Amino acid sequence: MADLWTPDSWRKKPIQKVPVYPDTDKLIGVERTLQSYPPLVFAGEARRLRGALARVADGKAFLLQGGDCAESFAEFHADNIRDTFRALLQMAVVLIYGAALPVVKVGRMAGQFAKPRSQDTETRNGLELPAYRGDSINGMDFTEASRTPNPERMIQAHNQSAATLNLLRAFAQGGYANLHKVHEWTLDFVADSPLGERYRDMADRLAETLAFMAACGLTPESTPQIRETDFFTSHEALLLHYEEALTRVDSTTGDWYDTSAHMLWIGDRTRQLDHAHVEFLRGVGNPLGLKCGPTTEPDELLRLIDTLDPKNEAGRMTLIVRMGAQKVEQYLPRLIRAIGREGKRVVWSCDPMHANTVRSASGLKTRPFDKILQEVREFFDVHRAEGSYPGGVHFEITGQDVTECVGGAQAITEANLSDRYHTHCDPRLNAKQALELAFLLAEMLKQNRGHLHGSDTPHDRVACD
Ligand code: PEP
Ligand code: CO
Repeated sequence: MADLWTPDSWRKKPIQKVPVYPDTDKLIGVERTLQSYPPLVFAGEARRLRGALARVADGKAFLLQGGDCAESFAEFHADNIRDTFRALLQMAVVLIYGAALPVVKVGRMAGQFAKPRSQDTETRNGLELPAYRGDSINGMDFTEASRTPNPERMIQAHNQSAATLNLLRAFAQGGYANLHKVHEWTLDFVADSPLGERYRDMADRLAETLAFMAACGLTPESTPQIRETDFFTSHEALLLHYEEALTRVDSTTGDWYDTSAHMLWIGDRTRQLDHAHVEFLRGVGNPLGLKCGPTTEPDELLRLIDTLDPKNEAGRMTLIVRMGAQKVEQYLPRLIRAIGREGKRVVWSCDPMHANTVRSASGLKTRPFDKILQEVREFFDVHRAEGSYPGGVHFEITGQDVTECVGGAQAITEANLSDRYHTHCDPRLNAKQALELAFLLAEMLKQNRGHLHGSDTPHDRVACD
């Protein structure tokens, strides 16, 4: 693996979960076009995120990563982008309050278009066609034409990502992220929620804090931190033809960066050490995520980190743990111990979505709210027992009022699922479920505060400067 890295060195490695394009000339043409397009993000921004994540690794900040399972061309609309952004901001404010720490906000947005599927094909009424792999690869419609991988879709994905990012930057910097406004939306949620009483105390204290700050002269007009926020983008770096075409040399440092997003992650199905996805991502300077599932072995994880982060730089690696409720205790401690033993400076984040997917009686994929909450709780408990820092969470959410995950205060049942089931891939928490989860998480963070700040376990000493 110490071989020379180039943006296309992944092409010599075995690869999983990517399409085979029938028209190679067309693919090459699209790759050239993408290479000529401007970058979506700048290397300096990716480095800023790395700095922010380094503070998470050191226990001085918390990471909130979330958004669609799969963005789609059909649902591309300013309102959808705004609503998901708003839901994430609301969650972040509640978490800041709960943790008494800064929250690093990273969207699964502006590029999350390619999906690793368990099966390569799908059969309906005896007809077998390629599986849907995300809008940057093929279409959802069950026809031969739609399911055939079409490289031109990468151009549309790039355009949509550029427009989405443009709007996100405007929302983040242009006044929409004003803390006072975000809090007003949250008060509306609390007033409406069947469990509002449980959240009211925290919401009232937040209101008092904002009023106190304003009385001290810290207003949106006087203080940029109150009217603006940093918001970063991320997606799974699955479709390497696309990622390679957007990989550029940073003129400031001479290093390579994948300019398709600030942060990129490797999925649970494509993290083989000697395969293409690890090869590609080891060479770019962006912060990286690595999904860790029940099959992740401690030695394998250490070798992956040696390859992806040979300098052991805090902020480079975020381990996104997705074990499933009731499995965290079995599989996570051995990973935490291996990382602690070797002194690896990672962010531990909890994805309580991807190992808690079940089928409803009618065949729709869903996730029980209770299982999602349970996995987060187990993640916190295991870190507390091991003396390590539970640094973040990774959710699939949308700002829309969908009915995809069962449970929560709205008590969505299996029978309700088909009312507003719009996801192109996995079931997402809707805006109310997402905020409810943030409140419950904030309670956990608050309880953990004594443990999180200023504890002096052997592992924390390793993790801090
Ligand atoms: C995802 O994050 O959408 C995903 C497919 O996750 P995982 O690789 O953990 O299954
Ligand atoms: Co998903």
